[in-house]
Amino acid sequence: MSEFNNRVALITGGSTLIGAAVAKAFVRSGAKVAILDIDAASGAKLADQLGASALFIETDITSDSQLEAAVAQTAAHFGGLHYLVNLACSYLDEGADSGRADWLKALDINVVSAVMAARTVRPLLAQEEGAVIVNFTSISSQAAQTGRWIYPASKAALKHLTRSMALDFADDGIRVNSVSPGWTWSRVIEEVSGGDRAKADRVAAPFHMLGRLGGAEEVAEVVLFLCSPRASFVTGADYAVDGGYSALGPEQKEPAIPKLAE
Ligand SMILES: NC(=O)c1ccc[n+]([C@@H]2O[C@H](COP(=O)([O-])OP(=O)(O)OC[C@H]3O[C@@H](n4cnc5c(N)ncnc54)[C@H](O)[C@@H]3O)[C@@H](O)[C@H]2O)c1
Repeated sequence: MSEFNNRVALITGGSTLIGAAVAKAFVRSGAKVAILDIDAASGAKLADQLGASALFIETDITSDSQLEAAVAQTAAHFGGLHYLVNLACSYLDEGADSGRADWLKALDINVVSAVMAARTVRPLLAQEEGAVIVNFTSISSQAAQTGRWIYPASKAALKHLTRSMALDFADDGIRVNSVSPGWTWSRVIEEVSGGDRAKADRVAAPFHMLGRLGGAEEVAEVVLFLCSPRASFVTGADYAVDGGYSALGPEQKEPAIPKLAE
């Protein structure tokens, strides 16, 4: 408790596991958080748990007017704004079969709304010392994955936008970085694995050097580091929080050369 005293973070898509972990980490470190999400039930429940340090604002980030109202409400409620975490996402993706409507909808949430959120908070962040934006990208931004076209493209776009934002917001004193998680224990993975984390770890093990998937809290720690003064010379960077996924080649963890002798 101290590093983030009297500091305020706005998190888009804060209603599920990873967003909640980021919100909790900020509050534990002394910050106030605004959680913006369309999932009102989970968002309100999380804000209740966090008490006076948290504010849930039901917001569809694809609406400019809702976004502007939520940012203004956050700044008025907590007396300022220092950090934006662009975390909300859509997994809408039918790969090669995706039609125009799906492309436009998912890119609107994953890319365009992140940019609009950054544009909306910019004047407020520019008034503060040590303001930071963190964008959520993914290992999917750099690897082909079967049946997925929209999501990886959207994350690659956001990773590059991080560099553009960092450059053009630098003179406002705003640092901009991204985090690229590997497989993380999250709503989606919990649902698909039937809540079996040990099984999810076993599936993830061959392609994560650390032999398991990540925890939402482990991703949140890196977000907080990037927002902290300890990262004061870090901007335009993408931080892998992926247990070594992106540093591994196609040979994966198992030694491949011995297989030649089998
Ligand atoms: N789950 C993983 O393993 C993983 C891996 C790499 C990166 N990520 C990234 O981490 C972030 C969180 O992922 P997650 O798996 O927790 O996702 P999630 O689907 O559980 O959470 C995303 C949140 O965004 C909200 N949202 C969607 N559309 C919205 C809109 N129009 N307006 C406001 N909120 C909206 C959803 O309600 C949800 O609460 C994403 O950016 C994702 O790309 C996740």
